[in-house]
Amino acid sequence: MIPVIISGTVVTALRRANRVVVVTGAGISAESGIPTFRGAEGLWRNFKAEDLATPAAFARNPRLVWEWYDWRRNLCGKAQPNPAHHVVAAMERFYHHFLLVTQNVDGLHSRAGSRRMVEVHGSLWRARCLKCGDTVELPMTSFEDGKAVVGRVSSRVARCLEEENPARSPGLQPLPTHAACGGTLRPAVLWFGESYEPAMLQQVFTALEEAQVVLIIGTSGGVALPVDLAAQARQAGATIVEINRERTAVSRLAHERLEGRAGEILPELWRRVQVGHLTDEIRARGRHKGGRLMIGIAGPPGAGKSTLAQALKAVLGREAVVVPMDGFHFPNARLDALGLRARKGAPETFDRLAFELAVAELRATQKPVSLPLYSRELHEPVADALTVPLATSFVIVEGNYLFLWPEVRNALDLKIYLDCDPALARASVIARHQQGGASEEEAVRKFETNDRLNSETVHATRGAAEIMIRRNAAGWTVERVGGT
Ligand code: OAD
Repeated sequence: MIPVIISGTVVTALRRANRVVVVTGAGISAESGIPTFRGAEGLWRNFKAEDLATPAAFARNPRLVWEWYDWRRNLCGKAQPNPAHHVVAAMERFYHHFLLVTQNVDGLHSRAGSRRMVEVHGSLWRARCLKCGDTVELPMTSFEDGKAVVGRVSSRVARCLEEENPARSPGLQPLPTHAACGGTLRPAVLWFGESYEPAMLQQVFTALEEAQVVLIIGTSGGVALPVDLAAQARQAGATIVEINRERTAVSRLAHERLEGRAGEILPELWRRVQVGHLTDEIRARGRHKGGRLMIGIAGPPGAGKSTLAQALKAVLGREAVVVPMDGFHFPNARLDALGLRARKGAPETFDRLAFELAVAELRATQKPVSLPLYSRELHEPVADALTVPLATSFVIVEGNYLFLWPEVRNALDLKIYLDCDPALARASVIARHQQGGASEEEAVRKFETNDRLNSETVHATRGAAEIMIRRNAAGWTVERVGGT
């Protein structure tokens, strides 16, 4: 995987913004396995739009058009939203003012959780009655030999794809009709030669007028709308960011371009925005409290506590030190020997008194102070001590022990809980064991024996957190910022 290069300007713009518009095209669904329209593998290479996606084509051969849409519905129904769709949904939850404008008809945005959304080209999952104008939801069916076939690609369309000429295949099946009025149904998708709904466009242009950042993701601009939207938003003063694998008709209007796959760029971009958001919060609290802040990060094994701590450190710079205090990587026998499992707490061998005294000194004095360091790498309860230099404003302590002892917990000024999708946490712990030389089988066994304890104990720490972060395949989302 090519490392993702993300300009700090884009991160800063998204950190400062509270009005964001995202415009997406077929490229955002490419990593879900759905073909785009243009380009080498594009749908318009294999199918003629004038045979399938125009009112005249429907009038000429409605069955063929329905079969093509059935085939696409089957394809899209089987596909899953990818991390880029999930980040867009996370952005919607994060920003107060947000609108997603998608040209895609595949339904993957809504399956990822997007709600504040306009589907400017309609949806494969809806049909419109030509008689009464009503819109109906469509199940995942295809119409073959006069019967509705669930979950299968229409053989006729599959054949057409092979033959690269759908027009050769005249259909004979009955057309889907509206149950309420008996009228003929057509796909509720915008076809070539049809116009955008004025009310919908109005909503989009109003959002663009006010937007501070507009992200334009995975669209060629082969249909002019994204270019018009970018031009309008740019004129209104928004920062335009394009995410695409290549230069497009939109590129010349973009202030920033992030070149690569949306499914790789968006999670990394969003992680950085979230870390930036957290560090803003941390700095604000630091100013408020007028001294050194002790920040604790707890969470399940594999959630990424160390990664988060290092990311915070990278943004806070020399002002911050990171104290790893993660003791959950002992073999069971060792945990038993320490009495940890019986107590469901921390081993006595970690010198919590020393920690407490060091924290008190850190707050009261203006001299460098040593904090006991609990090292995962050395697998020793108190392996070393860390000297916190004078210039430090933020001490970031990562590890679950912190939260388990009230004395230590009380020493913290800010408690962060990093939650994680269990499957992802499991995978990252297993990968870490493997990096340490374990075979896959050993790594799984280690996870299953050692780390079960962790998941039991860490849940007790959740309630103490003031900032809740969730990590899933799409990246990290700061969900709650509160407390003192
Ligand atoms: P296109 O197929 O024209 O463009 C897809 C864009 O996605 C290209 O610019 C690719 O470089 C980019 N791309 C591909 N993979 C990507 C990835 N993994 N990450 C980021 N970018 C990637 O699709 P649209 O611009 O969406 O209209 O096409 C617009 C409209 O034309 C469609 O909505 C459809 C079509 O005719 C209707 O059906 C009404």
